[in-house]
Formats: sequence, C-alpha cells, structure tokens
Amino acid sequence: MSKKPIIVFEGIEGSGKSHHISIVSKYLKNNKIDYLKIREPGGNPNSEKIRKIILSNKSNFNKNTDLFLYMAARSENISQIQKYFHKKIILIDRFTDSTIAYQHYGMGVDINLIKTINKFLLKNIKVDFTFLNLVNNKNLYERLKKRKSLNRYDKFNMKFYNKVQRGFVKLSNINNRKYQLINSNLNIEKNEKIILNKIDKLIK
Ligand code: TMP
Repeated sequence: MSKKPIIVFEGIEGSGKSHHISIVSKYLKNNKIDYLKIREPGGNPNSEKIRKIILSNKSNFNKNTDLFLYMAARSENISQIQKYFHKKIILIDRFTDSTIAYQHYGMGVDINLIKTINKFLLKNIKVDFTFLNLVNNKNLYERLKKRKSLNRYDKFNMKFYNKVQRGFVKLSNINNRKYQLINSNLNIEKNEKIILNKIDKLIK
C-alpha cells in the first residue's frame, strides 16, 4: 500500500483556506476515497472545548497562554493523526505553521520554544504538502466584514495580519518541504481546479 499523505491548508483569515479544504473534502467523498479531516484548533471533542476557550471574545489570555492552549488542542489531535498516519489521507485545516506564523511572527513568542513543543508533540509525524492561501488587504477586510460574528482572532489590525502572512510565506521558503501558494485574490474556480489537480497528483 502506498503511503497516504498529510496535506495541510494554511493562510490568514479570509484567505480561502477553509473553502479550499471543503472543496477537496467533497471531491474525495464523491470519488469514494477515504480520508480524515481535522481542523486546528479543534478537530475532536476535547480540542473543540479548548478552541472555544481560546477564541472566545470573553478571553484575554497573554501570548504565552495562547501558545500553550493551541498546543494543548494539538496534543489532543496527535493520537488520531498517529493512528491514520500513512494509512489514510489526512487533511488538516491549520497546523504547525499557523503556530509559528501567529504566535512567533505575529506576536513575538520565541520560535525555538514553538519548534521544541511541536517536535515533542509530532514525533515521527511529517506534513507532506501545504497549500498556502494568500489574500490582499482589501479582500481580507471585505471578507472579515461579511462574517456574521467575529471571534477574538478575527479582530486584529491589518498590520498584524500582514506580519502573520509574511511569516507564512517565509516558512514556505525556508522549510524543507513542499508548498503551493494559492492567490485567493484571483478567480475562485481557477484556484479550485489548480488545487484539485495537485490533489490528484498527491494521492495517486
Ligand atoms: P480558524 O478560524 O481558521 O479555525 O482559526 C482560528 C484562529 O486560530 C486563527 O485566527 C489562527 C489561530 N491559530 C493560532 O494563532 N495558532 C495556531 O497554532 C492555530 C492552529 C491557530
């Protein structure tokens, strides 16, 4: 049996990441291809509890507490990922790059601390491919404005999101694994096609 990949979707708010993962998930379902889909923070009942606490508008944790909560939510996902690692296609809506992009590049938490905890949690788990979704300020602003409700992480200023997005791009340049950058300011159907074409190649 060929090894099934872990495919991650990353990007800031309004970058189309969650839309694209849902397109892929529908495509796999329609083709009766088995897969596991996880979102972070969240993905299972325990992590979803932690997600609620982190993203609640009533919370005002400091940046280190946020880091530990995101990692706690990840910790609750690891056994499930481990169980299906290489056996099932695993789609993840945000993963380790999000922690470095938001908590380090966005908020200034020590990058080595983040890498150490990720390494401790992930052990042999490795991401095979990342779709990094990018959005410009105009579309980001308009897409956030359209949301019915905004959580605690939807309310940062443009400067913060720009730092985070630049961080994601930096990671795609320095990490020793494969990325595809998706420009979500362009035609949505074209992007969907680009992504599904790549998915075909990744899963065959
Ligand atoms: P979502 O709305 O895409 O589900 O993501 C929720 C928020 O969590 C989003 O603003 C990014 C943030 N986040 C981090 O700051 N660090 C992390 O490690 C993860 C997984 C998410």
